[in-house]
Amino acid sequence: MTTARRLQRVINARNTSDGDGVKIRRIAGRDVLAQLDPFLLLDEMHSQDGADYMGGFPSHPHRGFETITYMLDGAMRHRDHLGNEGVVSSGGIQWMTAGAGVIHSEMPEQTDGLLHGFQLWLNLPASKKMTPAAYQEFDRTQIPVVKLEDDSRITVIAGTVTTPNGTVTGPVADIVTAPTYLDLQLAAGAQVQFPIDDTHTALLLVYSGATAELTDGQLGIYSHGDHVVIEASGSGARALLLAGSPLREPIVQHGPFVMNTEAEIEQAIQDYSAGCLLA
Ligand code: FE2
Repeated sequence: MTTARRLQRVINARNTSDGDGVKIRRIAGRDVLAQLDPFLLLDEMHSQDGADYMGGFPSHPHRGFETITYMLDGAMRHRDHLGNEGVVSSGGIQWMTAGAGVIHSEMPEQTDGLLHGFQLWLNLPASKKMTPAAYQEFDRTQIPVVKLEDDSRITVIAGTVTTPNGTVTGPVADIVTAPTYLDLQLAAGAQVQFPIDDTHTALLLVYSGATAELTDGQLGIYSHGDHVVIEASGSGARALLLAGSPLREPIVQHGPFVMNTEAEIEQAIQDYSAGCLLA
């Protein structure tokens, strides 16, 4: 017997800015954290106007979670204080496990033209919050795309997708919350179905067009069940499907630090101001 997941709650992304004045659409908030678990936040940057993004995200820290940067158009240069540097370019992804600490900058590699990308924050369990920082980086050629008969396309960043033509697994591996991260490009009226572990949280962010249930800028949170069915509207849809194993741990967040207790947040602030975030 199979149980389809139903849409339980819809969150509207809000327009805000972060970094040095970068305009974003953001899904976050204390009142939804428990339902997003293990995810914490999802930001979308999307502008043709350099004034909306050229300030970028100058040097800032992270501790206690993972940041996943996925670029559709344009590029972001990443530099951290360990000397790691790279560019996430169109179609590429950077999966950064910040763990005990990373201090980095994320700056657009352009001053005009289309910049479109996402940053997802994914929590780490208490047992992994102080692990050494680690990166997984993949460019467009390393991320599989499943093409369906109706010209729909499914980009498989993490997790597994099975179609009549076979099974495709994304390149991101060894993440403790066993996430699924799919970018769906659905043709008008297309219907797709994905099995999702019944214990996992499942979310869908529509970022262009609409589905039967969600419009552009809305995130849907699904009930439990063993699969999800998504139907594009008559104009088609672009959407991110996210799923992962919830941690069910206390969350104490202070800006870029996400820990389990107030004392751990105090420690993170002290370590950062003392210049020893990685200790
Ligand atoms: Fe960052």
